Amino acid sequence: MTAGVVEPDTELDRRRLASLHARESEAFAASRPRSRALADRSRGSLLGGVPMTWMLRWAGPHPLFLAEAHGARVADVDGHEYVDLCLGDTGAMAGHSPEPLVRAIAARAAAGITAMLPTEDAAWAGEELARRFGLPLWQFTLSATDANRFAIRLARAVTGRPKILVFNGCYHGTVDETFATLRPDGTVGVRDGNVGPPVDPALTTKVVELDDLAGLEAALAPGDVACVLAEPALTNIGIVLPQPGFHEALRELTRASGTLLVLDETHTFSAGPGGYTAAHGLRPDVLTIGKAIGGGVPVGAFGVGEELAARALGQREADYEDVGGVGGTLAGNALSLAAVRATLGEVLTDDAFARMTELGGRLADGTAQAIDGAGVPWHVTRLGARSEYRFQPEPPRNGGESALAGDEELERFLHLYALNRGVLITPFHNMALVCPATTEADVDLHAEVLAAALGELA
Ligand SMILES: Cc1ncc(COP(=O)(O)O)c(C=O)c1O
Repeated sequence: MTAGVVEPDTELDRRRLASLHARESEAFAASRPRSRALADRSRGSLLGGVPMTWMLRWAGPHPLFLAEAHGARVADVDGHEYVDLCLGDTGAMAGHSPEPLVRAIAARAAAGITAMLPTEDAAWAGEELARRFGLPLWQFTLSATDANRFAIRLARAVTGRPKILVFNGCYHGTVDETFATLRPDGTVGVRDGNVGPPVDPALTTKVVELDDLAGLEAALAPGDVACVLAEPALTNIGIVLPQPGFHEALRELTRASGTLLVLDETHTFSAGPGGYTAAHGLRPDVLTIGKAIGGGVPVGAFGVGEELAARALGQREADYEDVGGVGGTLAGNALSLAAVRATLGEVLTDDAFARMTELGGRLADGTAQAIDGAGVPWHVTRLGARSEYRFQPEPPRNGGESALAGDEELERFLHLYALNRGVLITPFHNMALVCPATTEADVDLHAEVLAAALGELA
């Protein structure tokens, strides 16, 4: 997701940036007539000309239309090939259409896709998630958003408390309670741009900065917070790593106040086979995840401990079987569980993570070298197979600080420049991710292109 534009880098020659951007936009349009024709046509039948409006987020005068994607490569309808470091904003962290996944999907598609009945794959997937993340009992949804939504409902139901707490700058999918932001005066407000909030988020949500442990303690003290919902490291306002001791304190404070701790591993899964949670020995009450676990097939999941599960299912007044608000007709469908089994069992394996993590180091180092070479005061942050550069010299300590480094104009130019030279990075800020099929040459190309862009801007 996007950071607010707050303080553009004043050192930058903005006129030069604008003229380079115009040059890149022209080059983009001139060499992509088929994408442009499809964009024109789609405006007649699709809201905003795309199947989901956030596809408008890509840099360039119109969206690229996808022809094919294999492994770490994407090809557009005009025949251009790209090294894909966006990977569907993590949905394709397993790489595009890896062979074991294609095989499993084809077999399952030919043998029943959805029947509202469990399959053996579901049992396997639950066992594997338990092995990786340490929580024994799992449920499946169609998205990470739904996993978060249901985790919040469950937390409210078992604690009998009305509110949740999130960290400033968070993103957890389109979950109403999480579109809350910390205003400069310390009060909670609606996050900029939120479309049709149902109620004032201050009614449902408390917000604190990631490094504000005293604020966290004070917010939990009244005992009205059902759960803290947190990414183990923020990834949607740039990557913001927690300060040493943060997770220990978060666990202690939540436990002491009877607040459940929900960790959202949807993006931080890049930290290892069991995400940041396993890599750092964290002990959440609930863990949510989505995107990558199905290799691109829509699926999300949440895991809980035995005791919490017993408390939830032991509540006679809470209806988990029909229209109680937790569910989805296609949730847990056979196809998505076959996809999870193939993805976790054969593609995003422990060995694959070891390689991806090493390559993630090369990606981050190359990016840092390009930045150092250009002498710009930026930094790079790393989260296993993922890394990100930000337009500020030091890593931020919290979401508010990270938002100050937002520079939409610069960001879009850099994304477009890379795109025109065969490199896709996530359209939300400057995040890049590797998959099992990514090569050293692929990550080196990212660094070369960044160095070239900075050279032109200098
Ligand atoms: C941390 C985190 N959680 C949840 C989500 C929601 O995922 P989805 O849109 O697939 O439901 C996202 C999406 O970017 C995310 O970054």
